[in-house]
Amino acid sequence: MTETLAPPQDGPAAPKRLFIKTYGCQMNVYDSERMADVLRPLGYATTDTAEGADFVILNTCHIREKAAEKVYSELGKLRELKDARARNSTTPMIIAVAGCVAQAEGEEIMRRQPAVDLVVGPQAYHQLPELLTRTARARGERIGADFAPVDKFDALPAARGVDGPTAFLTVQEGCDKFCTFCVVPYTRGAEWSRPVAAILAEARRLSDQGVREVTLLGQNVNAYDGEGADGAPSTLARLAYALADIPGIDRIRYTTSHPNDMSDDLIAAHGELEALMPWLHLPVQAGSDSILRAMNRKHGRQKYFDLIDRVRAARPDIALSGDFIVGFPGETDADFEQTMDLVRRVGYASAFSFMYSPRPGTPAATMGAQVPEAVARERLHALQALLWEQQTAFNAAMTGRTMDVLLEKKGRHGAQAIGRSPWLQSVHVDDADHLIGRIVPVEIEHGQQNSLKGRQTETDRPQEARRRASSGRAQESIHGA
Ligand code: SAH
Ligand code: SF4
Ligand code: F3S
Repeated sequence: MTETLAPPQDGPAAPKRLFIKTYGCQMNVYDSERMADVLRPLGYATTDTAEGADFVILNTCHIREKAAEKVYSELGKLRELKDARARNSTTPMIIAVAGCVAQAEGEEIMRRQPAVDLVVGPQAYHQLPELLTRTARARGERIGADFAPVDKFDALPAARGVDGPTAFLTVQEGCDKFCTFCVVPYTRGAEWSRPVAAILAEARRLSDQGVREVTLLGQNVNAYDGEGADGAPSTLARLAYALADIPGIDRIRYTTSHPNDMSDDLIAAHGELEALMPWLHLPVQAGSDSILRAMNRKHGRQKYFDLIDRVRAARPDIALSGDFIVGFPGETDADFEQTMDLVRRVGYASAFSFMYSPRPGTPAATMGAQVPEAVARERLHALQALLWEQQTAFNAAMTGRTMDVLLEKKGRHGAQAIGRSPWLQSVHVDDADHLIGRIVPVEIEHGQQNSLKGRQTETDRPQEARRRASSGRAQESIHGA
């Protein structure tokens, strides 16, 4: 390690400022937090602006063209900051590109934007200290774009910087599904699951730091098959049960799931495991069988309907969420109508919807019959209006209910606190900021499009009573209400 990177030895030296800008999915959010963890021992403290930062990392997303292009425009702005810094200071600003654009475009990034000092793929950010050291000597190396997630997790520091009572926890990475539109199998590599013991250890540390809710992350999280205590592969359901046994971990969620990996034991767990929140993100992408086939989703619409029925039978009040793509090559008006019909039949509490974006190197990019943008845009508007209507109805149906809310952070007004309902809605509660970090019963006064507003109903209900009282299991189905 060079002298410039050594942690301050004596006296309170000013920390070096680290700015990380995160694009894309929650996996990137987790990775950004872990990058900060890796760099903290080198004396880097995070800041929320690039101005004045010593080290800037763009943690990028390659999923759609716009996502990737944003990176280059951001790099243009950073270059100006870096040049200004070089004129006024002897310590240069270091710029790194991490994440999926780094993985997909590698050297191309350095060629397009010479201000970039280093490029680090999603499986190599544990090597940041070493990469920084080398950068201090010679610029322009691209290292660590090979897939080796096992090494990465082993090499990350145990300590995590935690911000509030909720945390992401990556349990699985990569994807073997190869949907024809998607870059993830190329940027994140093959499916790989972390061993149960490593995940439990991380969750125990999070609980010690006050975390009450963990969201288990994976590109195909329900394909989780990490090694269990007996050496045999575990399942996501078994992992969830083990996590729920950790004192303090009261709530568990997981995302993102593929319909084909929605196993019987996971569905059953939704009916049995108190800590498993009644919320499921289960993307279907499209409602027409021929488009699902062209997307290589490996299941049809009826299988999705059957699955939803089984999940709802296990947990009637479950809130469903999804992802949709409109304008996939060859999508006709009739195909699109099938997507609208599927949405009407399923009913979503929330959803993301996108216009298809051709990605270089994916099979769909060279399929004939690309849909004109104007047509795709119109379909997107129609779909979003329907999804919006469903989300609004879902939230409005909460008015008058009492539910457990995990209070996460201060709100904007006075002593207001903002928390999360079991169904992942944002809940604003007045005069509750002294209860941040706790799960409290809240009566909902008003369900709005994007959030709920309520008031706390009891102050000192003991945790044990709360656990036995159930967080909403006794409630009947709220879907379609
Ligand atoms: N593993 C997850 C999703 C990862 S990407 C899953 O299988 O569902 C997140 C979402 O981005 C996808 O669900 C899809 O809806 C969207 N997406 C992926 N590739 C896209 C593309 N080429 N154009 C438009 N949207 C895309
Ligand atoms: Fe992409 Fe499909 Fe894998 Fe999801 S399942 S990450 S959409 S290839
Ligand atoms: Fe984007 Fe990579 Fe996530 S492409 S969606 S950041 S896995």
